[in-house]
Amino acid sequence: MSKAVIAVVGSAMIDLTAYATVLPAPGQTLEGELFTTGFGGKGANQAVIAAHCGAEVHFVGKLGKDLFGDSIAENFKKLGIDSEYVERSETPNGVAHIWVDANGENRIVIIPGANHEIELKKAVQAIESIAGLAVVVAQCEIKQEVTLAAFCAAKKRGCVTILNPAPYQPLSEELLAVTDWIIPNETEFKELHGQAPTSDDVLMSFRPGKNSIVTLGSEGAVLITSDGDLTRLSAPTVNPVDTTGAGDAFVGVFAFGLASGKSPEDAMKLGIKVASMSVTRKGAQSSYPSQAEIETLS
Ligand code: RIB
Repeated sequence: MSKAVIAVVGSAMIDLTAYATVLPAPGQTLEGELFTTGFGGKGANQAVIAAHCGAEVHFVGKLGKDLFGDSIAENFKKLGIDSEYVERSETPNGVAHIWVDANGENRIVIIPGANHEIELKKAVQAIESIAGLAVVVAQCEIKQEVTLAAFCAAKKRGCVTILNPAPYQPLSEELLAVTDWIIPNETEFKELHGQAPTSDDVLMSFRPGKNSIVTLGSEGAVLITSDGDLTRLSAPTVNPVDTTGAGDAFVGVFAFGLASGKSPEDAMKLGIKVASMSVTRKGAQSSYPSQAEIETLS
């Protein structure tokens, strides 16, 4: 069987994570339990989980010419992620400062750094050149004009485009027009649509005639197809220790699923299982199931 070929046009960060039972209020100092340094960035997380699934993954992005950038480049190489279209910048690599509480909930501040310097022309060149490309994935930690140009190039050659609008920012009509699938979480949905995803009517009124998936954390996810069908899929009950990167796991697996010919529903089912497993472990990429574990979930 031919490989599922995916390009992720996106961010790569180093995650600096503090775990504390309770998170500090403004002006308060408190002692936490653990500090970790790990691989993150929504784009890189999605690329890495798609690679764990067995996809041929091409990352299109920009790393700092620093130790963080070096270690991400090394990690991509180790995982077999194609980095022909990964450039390096004098601007420091992107970092994310993350706090995780006792319930596994996080708060994140990102400093995009080199991620904001991806050149539009290079992204287009990448999308035009990758052989057998089926799916192009992007998020909102890079400049929107780059995503728009990459998606326009992707649509010209008949690829499927998936936008994870995270973190939220207003999206241009042009970008929405070349986005086949949009995958917000509850918070992003509310910001994009002005209403929380609390009823089928609200969900159906989000993007009539287009495909959307709204991820609902421990409640699973809901699929709304361009035909107007709505399907809710539940998630297994787990004990979360860190939800960082779970949404990215879902998006990366879903992209792999579509690129490998699965139905959207089957791709979502696998995405929910993988994301649910990831929240039982600490970190973003460090929490992702291995290829062998994913095979047991398929
Ligand atoms: O979605 C989780 C990710 O958001 C983290 O890995 C962090 O890097 C931020 O980009």
